Amino acid sequence: MTKSINVYEVGPRDGLQNETAVIPSATKIALINILGRAGFATIEATGFVSPRWVPQMADAAEVMAGIARNPGVRYAALVPNLRGFDAALEAGVDEVAVFAAASEGFSRKNINCSVAESMERFTSVMAAAQTSGIPVRGYVSCAIACPYEGRVAPEAVRDVALRLLDMGCYEISLGDTTGTGRPDDVARLLDAMVADMPASRLAGHFHDTGGRAVANVERALDFGLACFDGAVGGLGGCPYAPGAKGNLATRSLVERLHQLGYETGIDIDILAEAEQLVAGIRAMPEEVLS
Ligand code: HMG
Ligand code: MG
Repeated sequence: MTKSINVYEVGPRDGLQNETAVIPSATKIALINILGRAGFATIEATGFVSPRWVPQMADAAEVMAGIARNPGVRYAALVPNLRGFDAALEAGVDEVAVFAAASEGFSRKNINCSVAESMERFTSVMAAAQTSGIPVRGYVSCAIACPYEGRVAPEAVRDVALRLLDMGCYEISLGDTTGTGRPDDVARLLDAMVADMPASRLAGHFHDTGGRAVANVERALDFGLACFDGAVGGLGGCPYAPGAKGNLATRSLVERLHQLGYETGIDIDILAEAEQLVAGIRAMPEEVLS
């Protein structure tokens, strides 16, 4: 039987959050609507984060209200705290994601609190999500390296991931936020992870700064991971991880998985339509966008 891999599209959130020019909500909605036809089970559509921290996500509610929902797709949003969760729930998201870091330096820069404090914040998010029946995904950023502290110990990642799972996250996405990881780093990380949790609860979130994201996916497949994040057109980065380039492009991920004999359910032609829209965003002069 062909093994199927879940490709989790994060472009509209992880990708667009890093664009400096303000992209019109209608353009974001158009992108999500195309992606909604491409076969993804889940699309991370936006983030209910502070607009002071990430201005690009300020229109999260408008975006959620404007999309034409495909009933077969779960529309997810990133939430940093209970306020973000409440707004996401009100906007009708199907799933939320909380995001912690495995390094103190990145946690401070990205969400202005320590790793322990972020866990406290997530406790109330998890309780509210449970009451509302909303599944929660957890990210662990800087799972390999931190832009402020250098290499990150696999055991630190494991400990944060275990806490998130314990709190009720259904899956943990391991973020190579800086995109500096190599297949050997991935193997070291996953050795530590799979000793303490099932590979089926883990996803790979690779940024392609070093051009090794596909190789890193292949290494992670050896450990039994069956979910990988991609961003259409290789959009992305993180505003609080200087130098981190785009996410692994969804097409590169899907094409490689298909070559390796995996099934993804993603329609490459529809993905190409979405890529064209992304190319249009990139080609627009800043004054048109803002
Ligand atoms: P803070 O400044 O410590 O907290 O931010 P605050 O409570 O003082 O809030 C600051 C302002 O934001 C206030 O407004 C709040 O009301 C407002 P003001 O009084 O200044 O007008 N506020 C909010 N507004 C809307 N929605 C909310 C919300 N919360 C507060 N939910 C906070 C703390 C966590 C809010 C902030 O640091 C934040 O939003 N950070 C998000 C940063 C972010 O989105 N980073 C990118 C995503 S992470 C990533 O890309 C990595 C990932 O892809 C995985 C990987 O690649 O590894 C996930
Ligand atoms: Mg990311």
